[in-house]
Amino acid sequence: MALVTSTELFKKAYTGGYAIGAFNINNMEIVQGITEAAAELKSPVILQASKGARKYANSVYLVKLVEAAVELHPEVPIVLHLDHGPDFETCKDCVDHGFTSVMIDYSGHPFEENIAESRKVAEYAHEHGVVVEAELGTLSGVEDEVSVEADKAMYTDPDQVEEFVKRTGVDSLAIAIGTSHGAYKFKLGQNPKLRLDILAEVSRRLPGFPIVLHGSSSVPQEYVKIINANGGALKDAIGIPEDQLREAAKGAVCKINIDTDLRLGMTAGIRQHFNEHPDHFDPRQYIADGRANVKAIVEHKIREVLGSEGKI
Ligand code: G3H
Ligand code: 13P
Ligand code: ZN
Repeated sequence: MALVTSTELFKKAYTGGYAIGAFNINNMEIVQGITEAAAELKSPVILQASKGARKYANSVYLVKLVEAAVELHPEVPIVLHLDHGPDFETCKDCVDHGFTSVMIDYSGHPFEENIAESRKVAEYAHEHGVVVEAELGTLSGVEDEVSVEADKAMYTDPDQVEEFVKRTGVDSLAIAIGTSHGAYKFKLGQNPKLRLDILAEVSRRLPGFPIVLHGSSSVPQEYVKIINANGGALKDAIGIPEDQLREAAKGAVCKINIDTDLRLGMTAGIRQHFNEHPDHFDPRQYIADGRANVKAIVEHKIREVLGSEGKI
């Protein structure tokens, strides 16, 4: 199977009460870990590259790595998505170079500007058979070089979603309901709670329309502990409870974004390897342990959070 868009995947996910995992890719081992897990569990998957990932790895490498995964796992529907596209030009570049889905993130701009830029991207992408995600509302945390303080984060206003989707023509919408980017989503002692009431209201206003959740890592404490037991210093890293994400996936949420958890898994594997084998210096040895953790984490997400096992 060639790369696919998310259109059919989201339709099935919406009616089936599950979500598709959107995992960030930055190098070959991350692509391998994610796609091997998806193949073993017969789950569709979205591989997404941020502006930072495209700069780090070079977008040509990322596209070719994903094409290799498609060739090796022809049975798995794979979407190649631009994560947090900052402007029309970046989205256009991805549309022109093999991506099947792009996100235009103008959520930090005023409503009318967000509409104008998202609409421009949707028109261009649709002419080329590519689908578009946009964002309304502001997540706290770090969005590609932009840091948003928790008190400046804004939940999505359900009163705006119909007009936004109608006037932009986008295919899916990322909303802010209490998730945030990075490993430090909540303060110690806080009781993390997603605003599932806002999600319900948004989906009432947009029946059948796919909703996206960013910032959905759960920061598994087992990996934080491994990192800290092997020389790391991650203090009070806290994520989104998995049961609340599962609840969201049963409803209108069709795409759940996870990056931080993969970073933690990769780092835990490498740190532990170095500690246990101080004589090793072959990158294949230690990166393989990071890759194994990435695969295990994606398997866990597919089974326990997304519910997408066997949905090929
Ligand atoms: O939403 C942000 C993603 O985790 C990507 O992070 O911009 O550091 O690649 P990045
Ligand atoms: P996390 O930092 O919670 O993994 O979120 C990733 C994300 O939203 C990528 O767009
Ligand atoms: Zn994000």
